[in-house]
Amino acid sequence: MKEPDQEAGSVSSDLVDETVDVSVLVIGAGAAGARTAIELVEQGVDTEELLVIGKRGHGDAHTTWARGGINGALGTHDPEDDWTVHAADTLNEGHFLNDPGKVETVTERMPGLLRELDDWGMAYSRTTEGDIDQRYFGAQSFRRTAFAGDHTGESLLDTLVARAQSLSIPYRENVFISRVLTDGGRVLGAAGVDLDTGSFVVFRADFVVLAAGGYTSLYDRHSSRDDENTADGPALAYEAGARLMDLEFVQFHPTGMMGARYGEEWDGRLVTEAVRGEGGRLYNTVGSASDASGGSGHAESPGDRRFMQRYSPDQMELDARDIVARAIDREVREGRGTENGGVYLDISHREREFIERRLPRMYERFQSLGVDMAEEPVEVAPTAHYGMGGVVVDEHGETDVDGLYAIGETMAGVHGANRLGGNSLAETVAFGEVAGEAVADRLADGERPAIDDDRVDTLARHHLAEVAALAGSDGNEDPELLFDELRVLLGARAGILRDGEGLAAGLEELAALRERAGDLAVGDPTSRSFEFALNLGFALTVAEAVLRGAAERTESRGAHFRTDHPETHREWRRNIVVERDSIGGMRLSTAPVGSPSRAVQAALDAGYELDYHQLE
Ligand code: FUM
Repeated sequence: MKEPDQEAGSVSSDLVDETVDVSVLVIGAGAAGARTAIELVEQGVDTEELLVIGKRGHGDAHTTWARGGINGALGTHDPEDDWTVHAADTLNEGHFLNDPGKVETVTERMPGLLRELDDWGMAYSRTTEGDIDQRYFGAQSFRRTAFAGDHTGESLLDTLVARAQSLSIPYRENVFISRVLTDGGRVLGAAGVDLDTGSFVVFRADFVVLAAGGYTSLYDRHSSRDDENTADGPALAYEAGARLMDLEFVQFHPTGMMGARYGEEWDGRLVTEAVRGEGGRLYNTVGSASDASGGSGHAESPGDRRFMQRYSPDQMELDARDIVARAIDREVREGRGTENGGVYLDISHREREFIERRLPRMYERFQSLGVDMAEEPVEVAPTAHYGMGGVVVDEHGETDVDGLYAIGETMAGVHGANRLGGNSLAETVAFGEVAGEAVADRLADGERPAIDDDRVDTLARHHLAEVAALAGSDGNEDPELLFDELRVLLGARAGILRDGEGLAAGLEELAALRERAGDLAVGDPTSRSFEFALNLGFALTVAEAVLRGAAERTESRGAHFRTDHPETHREWRRNIVVERDSIGGMRLSTAPVGSPSRAVQAALDAGYELDYHQLE
C-alpha cells in the first residue's frame, strides 16, 4: 500500500509510479474518443503525440449499448428529408433548450459522416438496392435512423476501433482517471490509477479531450452496466473548473428489461426503440388473461389495451421518449401494469424472419431467456438511459478551461430538454470530428503551452496523496452499497416525476450520504471497492447538480416533469448552469438560448411530422 506523506506540504515523489508525456490525451475510448483520435491523426498529428485511455478493455464502452441506430438525413427512403429537418426535429424534441449552433453542426455533418463510416466498413443494414437502410425512430419526421440490425453502437465502435488500429493510434486500457490537472485556467494533463496494477500514473498533456460518458448510472434502473456512465466526465470537468449545464434533464428510455422477470443482471437493459420502430406495440394488462401474472397472454381486444392511443393517437408508440415513458409510468401507477411494474411490448404480429433479420440481438437475447418474440410480448418499463446535461462547451467542444475539451455524452448543448433516439451516436462522431479538427489546428499553429513539469508533478502528487489515503481506508461504509443508496435516492427524488418537496428532501438525504462517504472501507487500488470509492466522489457531485437543477426549474419541459409545476413556461426557456464558487460550493445561474439559422427556422415553420401510420 502506498503511504501518503504530506508533512510540511510536501508529497513523496514515490507516489507516482509512472509519468507519461503526450500532446493530446483523450480520456474515454467509446465512439467519441475514438473518432477524435482518428481525426487528430488524419489532420496530421503524429500518433506518438497522442494517447487514448479507456476505463475498460479496448472496444468495450458504453457506445455498445446504443443499439437501434444513428441519425443522418441520407433520405434513403424519404428524399424530402434533409439536415435542416433533422435539426428542426432535434430542436423540437429538445423543447428549444438546445444550442442551435451545436444542433446544426451535428445534423449538417451527419450525412457525410455516415458515408465515411460506410467507407470504413461499417456493417450497415442495407436496402435491396444496396443503400444504407434507414428506419423509423421516435419523434422524427422521416425515416432517418441508419442502423446495423439492432447492434448499431457495437458496429460503430468496431468500425472506429478498426480504423484507429489501422492508423496505429495508441491506446491504453483499464486506467481510471481521477483528476484533470489544471493551473490558472489551463489544462496540464491528468492523473489516475492503472486498475490492473494499482500503479499511480501522471499524464502530462497540452490538450485533454474528455469523452468519458454521462451520468445515468446514478439511477437505480439504468440501461448501462453498473460500472459505466458513472458521471466521470462531467465531474472531472467540473472539478477542473468547467461549468455544467442542463443536468436536470435525464432521459428515461421507455423500454428497459424487467429484472424481476428476466433476472437482475438484465434489469433496465435496453429493449431497443427499434422494436417500436419496426412496428412493436405497447399494451397494458387490462382485461388480459394473464394481466398481473407476468404471463404472456394477449387481450381479447388488443385495441383496448394499446394505451398509447390515449396518450398520443397520432404518433403512438413512436412519440418522444419522455411522452412514452410517462405514459408507461402512469399505466403502472394506476394499476394497469404487470405485477412486476411494467407493460408489454409486442412485435409478434411481424414475421419471425423479419424479427430475426431486423432485431437479431433482441431476438437472441430473449430466446436465451426463454421468450420467443415472434410468439409473445416482452415485459418492459422505463430506465434511465441518457443525460442531456453535461459540460458547457463552445462550438469546438472546448470547455471553460483552456485546452480541455468535452464531447459526446459528457458535453451539454445538443439535446436540450430531451434527446431524439439515434442522435447520441450521431453526436459522438460529429463532435469527435469537431474537437479533433480544433485540437489539430491548434497544434498545427504551434500552440504548445509552456508547461512547467515540476508544477504538474506537484499538483498530481497532491491529488494522488488523497487517492492513496483513500485506498485501504478502514472505515465503516461499503462504497458500492453507498453508491447503490445514492441510486435509489436519485431514482426516488429525481425520477420520471419530481416535485419540490421530494427534491428538497433528496438534497438533505444526499448531504447525509456525503457525510457517510467520509468513513469508507476501501480495498487496495486494484479492488472494486476502490474504484467505487473514487466514483462515489464523482457521483455525489453530479447527483447534487441534478437535484439542484431539478429543484430550480419550476416548470415541466421535455424529460423534466414537475408534478407541482406541470406547465411549460416561456420564461424558463433558459439553461441552468452550475459552477463551483470560490469556496467549493455549487452555484446555479441561468443563461438564454440562441436562435436557429434561417434555414432551420424555415424547416421548423414547415411543421413536418412523422406519418406513423405507414408503419401499421
Ligand atoms: O433504443 C435504442 O436503440 C437507443 C438508441 C439511442 O438512445 O440513441
